[in-house]
Amino acid sequence: MKRFFSFIGLCLFVFVVQAQSLYVEQFENATVDDKTLQEARKQIEDHKVVEIKENIFVPPFHQQKPPQLTDKKEFCNDCHLSPPHKKDERKRGFLNMHSRYISCLSCHFQPQDVPLEYRWLSFDENENEDSTKRITPFYDAQPVPVFSDNEFAVKIQQAWEKESPVQRAELKAKVHAPLSEQGPKCLACHDNKKQLLDLDALGYSEKEIKKLQRHAIPRFFSRFKKDEQRLRMTDLLK
Ligand code: HEC
Ligand code: HEC
Ligand code: HEC
Repeated sequence: MKRFFSFIGLCLFVFVVQAQSLYVEQFENATVDDKTLQEARKQIEDHKVVEIKENIFVPPFHQQKPPQLTDKKEFCNDCHLSPPHKKDERKRGFLNMHSRYISCLSCHFQPQDVPLEYRWLSFDENENEDSTKRITPFYDAQPVPVFSDNEFAVKIQQAWEKESPVQRAELKAKVHAPLSEQGPKCLACHDNKKQLLDLDALGYSEKEIKKLQRHAIPRFFSRFKKDEQRLRMTDLLK
């Protein structure tokens, strides 16, 4: 009998362990090939921690309000700045605007054949504050992302700080193995064809949905196929 109960206990334990973030689960099962590891080593060699200058001598032309601060941050922001995008000069302003109300993993976690559901999740202790909610992927009623105060995130952060460059490269590769580097195209959410987000279930009104799905700006971006293609503002009117 005792053995039976410890068996049940074990099942419960396994169940509790399994009811974790799908991202963490994929991290733990990730295997990294040699090519990815080589790339990660190179990235770690080149990696520079970006410092934010508080008082720039020449003030920015568009004086911006600091981004909305939330009590909690996604684990990604332990290493990535908020705002995180800098590479693509055309899109980064828009991508950074979206990362204030869309979780990193809504765009960067796109596993095949896994039914994800997108819901608003509060990034704040005060759960009623709408301005701190972000569209977040859920799997099996569990949020896929983890916050930086989560046990898993704390462990990664500690390892990252004390490990050698070689181990850091391995960690970088493993942290990013479940992720999609490219992220979705603008029209993946701004079109009336097959959509990543169910805007209706997220609470947008019919009028808002029409506006988002016919918006001129994401359409404008979808016309640029090549990096060297010139941006023309008049294309906005097409
Ligand atoms: C432990 C530190 C760390 C964490 C945590 C982390 N990243 Fe990164 N990430 C890096 C480093 C280092 C690079 C390489 C580029 C660089 O040096 O900035 C990188 C690169 C990337 C890239 C560019 C493609 C690639 O793989 O090189 C994307 C996209 C990205 N990270 C997204 C994320 C997202 C989303 C999360 C959260 C799930 C995340 N990262 C968490 C350190 C981290
Ligand atoms: C609305 C979708 C979206 C959200 C939300 C988003 N990203 Fe991205 N991200 C993208 C796309 C698309 C790219 C590829 C950009 C390109 O074409 O170069 C990208 C590229 C990146 C890169 C590599 C290139 C660069 O700009 O430096 C990093 C690092 C990154 N994302 C991190 C993050 C982190 C961290 C978060 C959350 C704080 C986040 N992203 C949220 C869509 C998104
Ligand atoms: C993951 C889905 C997703 C992706 C990818 C995405 N968007 Fe959005 N975007 C949204 C949602 C949701 C909103 C509405 C946010 C809100 O105000 O509640 C929005 C709002 C906007 C708005 C503001 C609309 C307005 O008038 O209020 C613009 C402009 C925009 N997106 C442009 C872009 C561009 C350009 C890209 C590609 C670089 C892009 N979006 C990619 C989901 C997405």
